[in-house]
Amino acid sequence: MDNKSFAKENYTKIFELLKEHHKWFSESLTLIASENVMSEAVKEAVVSDLMSRYAEGWPGDRVYAGCKYIDQIELSAIDLGKKLFDAEFVDVRPIAGVTANLAVYTAFTQPGDTIISLAIPNGGHITYGKKDLGGTAGAVRGLNVENFPFDSTEMNIDVDKTKALVSKLKSEGRKPKMVIFGGSLFLFPHPLKELVPFLKAEGITVMYDGAHVMGLIAGGKFQQPLKEGADVMTGSTHKTLPGPQGGLIVSYDKYAEVLKSAVFPSNVSNHHLHHVAGKAIAFAEMLNFGEDYASAVISNAKKLAESLAAKGLVVLGEKYGYTKSHQVVIDVSMYGGGGIIEKELEESNIIANRNLIPGDIKAGRHFRNPGGLRMGVQEITRLGMGLNEMEEVADILYRVIVKKEDHNKTKESIRELKNKFSSVKYTFESNGEAYKYIKIRI
Ligand SMILES: Cc1ncc(COP(=O)(O)O)c(C=O)c1O
Repeated sequence: MDNKSFAKENYTKIFELLKEHHKWFSESLTLIASENVMSEAVKEAVVSDLMSRYAEGWPGDRVYAGCKYIDQIELSAIDLGKKLFDAEFVDVRPIAGVTANLAVYTAFTQPGDTIISLAIPNGGHITYGKKDLGGTAGAVRGLNVENFPFDSTEMNIDVDKTKALVSKLKSEGRKPKMVIFGGSLFLFPHPLKELVPFLKAEGITVMYDGAHVMGLIAGGKFQQPLKEGADVMTGSTHKTLPGPQGGLIVSYDKYAEVLKSAVFPSNVSNHHLHHVAGKAIAFAEMLNFGEDYASAVISNAKKLAESLAAKGLVVLGEKYGYTKSHQVVIDVSMYGGGGIIEKELEESNIIANRNLIPGDIKAGRHFRNPGGLRMGVQEITRLGMGLNEMEEVADILYRVIVKKEDHNKTKESIRELKNKFSSVKYTFESNGEAYKYIKIRI
């Protein structure tokens, strides 16, 4: 095939695949804990001309011309972010949660320093992984990574053992430079109040990675890391916080200059300006509707967890009521493992993902087929689902995971459920079609 025909064939195919994707997701139960559905307002900002512009630097101090309106938009995003997180300093330029974390490592650590963070099976993210895992902290910033002692019954960091670890590292001449709270598998608030005074007395920087729970923090329904003593909070803007894909840094004025230069020029050249506009819109939505949304997310997650447990599924975190976040995590090792269940669910139009859980490595399980299945209810909550629907969702999950129901039967139940919840809620306006494919071409 010649190049022109090859190009035209793929050009056409991409648009067909995009439409198929939209249709599929409109008929699916979308339960990935790190995703969300954006309002039409956020989408409109994201498809603006800003998608192809440059504005390196800080508003008013750019390396590029043409930023008259871009500067005003970015300053609005910063002001909205400061109000939303009740913070002195906000940087909306990181283009991803990974970039935000790397910028904080750049600002507060040097290669060779020691940090403490969660191990991946206990909820840690690969950005604070060790070098041999290819983790950003170890492999990119050259940090020596130690892991928090973790209590898998409480599904939380062990406070006393963490203090003992810090003292041990100190006695070996390896006192941690920074400690990172937060994670990807994140059911309960982390013990900042219990650990920050001890860490501060040792002169250790406290970072909080709120990537997953940013929308719950913004809605005032999860722990407030800066008020609990964190020096800096990072996050993604597209998980529970329903904005476009991107990153965010929230902190204090005293760290503003070091953080700003760690973003640009150290880790971001041009930031994604259309996403800055989208972040501003999402912040405005959250300032208006965030409290109700975050409350509904957390009560829905709890209801889903309780309903699954009532059906005999093994839900993690039982000791403290399964969850206080958007996440519900179940052990599916007895049904073939997370990898296998993830595939079975997908064939039934349920999109959720496998996850390493405490005990997996010891049991010889790895990330391809770990013991856990992680779900988040933030997206279906945005569509207006409530406690009754969580019971229905639990029933559908049970029918696929345990009863191995015929996929077509499950798909039909999901189609019926989704038909009743087709628009994005907690927004200023909505066109009633959350997964509408938007065609701009004539
Ligand atoms: C805890 C945590 N931190 C950071 C990230 C990275 O965020 P992003 O995908 O926005 O780069 C993730 C991604 O899922 C995460 O779970």
